[in-house]
Amino acid sequence: MKAARVKVAIAVLADPAARPWARAASETLRMVPTPLALVREVSPLLARSTDHGQVTALSVALLHNGEELALRLSWAAPKPVDSLVDLDRFVDGVAAIFPLAEGASAVTMGSPGRPANAWYWKAGADAAWDVVAEGYGSSRRSAGAALGLGARALHDDGHWQVVLHRPLDAGAGHVRFTPGGSGGIAFAVWSGVNRERSGRKSFSGEFLPLELGR
Ligand code: HEM
Repeated sequence: MKAARVKVAIAVLADPAARPWARAASETLRMVPTPLALVREVSPLLARSTDHGQVTALSVALLHNGEELALRLSWAAPKPVDSLVDLDRFVDGVAAIFPLAEGASAVTMGSPGRPANAWYWKAGADAAWDVVAEGYGSSRRSAGAALGLGARALHDDGHWQVVLHRPLDAGAGHVRFTPGGSGGIAFAVWSGVNRERSGRKSFSGEFLPLELGR
């Protein structure tokens, strides 16, 4: 996947409906249910889940302006859930994950010594979480705002459109990008109406190569 470089202020790119997104190349990824049998040691209950992975396609566009990288993610959500009305309800969400070390795996959400870093948006909040994981059940969350991670969402015509953006460099321990550089990226989507949360979600498979325009 390529993030083309544009001369557009981040305040503009932060808006999912902004014009540069309409012109940006987008790719539709096939999303599949997470292989939860793999998490048996962490959560035997979760490992028995079979009805997750309701969202089967995610459209992704990437742009950067030399200072920030922005992702626009959109998917069909005919029955969006953006607020919790009871304890057994869950909200929609989307996340991108990046390797923090050579050889890190997206399928395992990193592994000890080979962490991965995710940007995580949950419906109902115009804010995002920064997550660092070294395998299932090891996720450490922090408020994305402290790193300059921003999120903005709109639901229109049965679809979510979410922009996540962050400065190319947010310090040690978090993924770093450089114009002309490369890395990896993968995605997950949670469908609240299908009670999806944590490992119950659909995902895009192993890291895909990521390139930033010069
Ligand atoms: C490759 C795309 C993926 C992304 C972007 C992603 C992202 C995330 C995020 C943001 C969380 C929530 C952490 C929190 O609550 O702060 C999470 C939790 C979790 N994910 Fe993933 N994930 C991916 C793939 C997978 C796969 C393939 C599995 C299982 C086979 C999995 C299993 C889990 C489990 C068990 C949890 C809950 C425990 C924990 O928080 O570590 N994930 N994931």
